[in-house]
Amino acid sequence: MEKPVLSLIIPTYNERENLPILVKRIHEVLRDYCSYEIIVVDDNSPDETWKVAEELSVYYPVKVVKREGKLGLSSAVIEGFKHASGEFLGVMDADLQHPPEILPNLIEEAKNGKDIVVASRYAKGGKIENWGFKRKVVSKGARFLTKVLVPQARGIKDPLSGYFIIRRDVVEGVELNPVGYKILLEILVKGNYENVSEVPFTFGTRGMGKSKLNLGEYANFLRHLYRLSETVGEVMKLVRYMVISVLALFVNMFFFFILTNYSSLNYIYSSILSLEAMILFSFALSEIWVLKGEQVKRPTNAVLRALKYNAFCFGGILINIGVLCLFTNVFDVYYFVSNFFGSIGAVIWNYAMNIWLTWKTK
Ligand code: GDD
Ligand code: MN
Repeated sequence: MEKPVLSLIIPTYNERENLPILVKRIHEVLRDYCSYEIIVVDDNSPDETWKVAEELSVYYPVKVVKREGKLGLSSAVIEGFKHASGEFLGVMDADLQHPPEILPNLIEEAKNGKDIVVASRYAKGGKIENWGFKRKVVSKGARFLTKVLVPQARGIKDPLSGYFIIRRDVVEGVELNPVGYKILLEILVKGNYENVSEVPFTFGTRGMGKSKLNLGEYANFLRHLYRLSETVGEVMKLVRYMVISVLALFVNMFFFFILTNYSSLNYIYSSILSLEAMILFSFALSEIWVLKGEQVKRPTNAVLRALKYNAFCFGGILINIGVLCLFTNVFDVYYFVSNFFGSIGAVIWNYAMNIWLTWKTK
């Protein structure tokens, strides 16, 4: 057979009822659109999905890769890549939650030069059907955590999608970690690519059978996330910001102590000056210790940068002064103690701002 345009990898574990329906639907969609092959990677499903796949291969361009046991979703996809000969590689679930009807849209984007095309539940127009409150919260939480820890996921609305298409050289020669469920995230961190695009879709209701996502997979996910974050140096960056924040708190309190005790300024002015000292201190430290050598979009002039940083920290100043006045005047708290609580508020604000600032890091 000539090299097809698309190799579609479908990992399966106990999907015997869903697979024939899916394959038929894929064929309906693609037969007049482009050449394709389907690669079913089955982990010796107890319900003999692999047998069903072999039967399908008589009528459809289906290749079956049967592995000896349940080795996981990501590793199944990686195995599928090895057997794929298409110009583009696609990945989709077998349980009918990923509608094949949008495949032409995905392929179109890829043909237009996008290296990675994500079928996205969270892009504008995308949806999730029939998810309970808990699964929604877990999904959004996982997505947020991913964006905090993995910079490569930040520009993407659905970095945890299981439905996507890539150009084959995105992963060619790249060593991918086969642990867990989130193979797309792995590709986003390690793959060779320049642009990503997202096509919205509705994540449907599962066909027959049960989801294989269990507690163990959640643990795997966290481990995977941590490892990726460490690889790209993001964990250390977050830790450095934490250290800077704690030191900043000390700087603030130290200046406040000196000014209130040894100058004639009242405590509000003292606090403003201490805050400025703290801001300049954390600015300098994050410049030399965290952002050094990084390509953040920011002014080249250091004074301008410091001013911009001040603007970023303005919310922190308001929080600190607000808490200081409120606690001291209304609740009669000793002003030094009030300022301590105010500073904590400011430091938390500044920490969040720092992270937000580096989110813009490319
Ligand atoms: N070969 C193989 N081995 N296939 C597996 C394994 C495995 O160990 N575990 C799961 N699969 C197959 C399933 O048979 C199905 O075709 C597909 O992988 C997805 O499994 P589900 O169990 O249906 O996962 P899900 O619906 O909870 O999760 C999906 O949606 C998530 C988005 O919330 C996946 O696409 C995830 O990658 C995605 O993040
Ligand atoms: Mn599913």
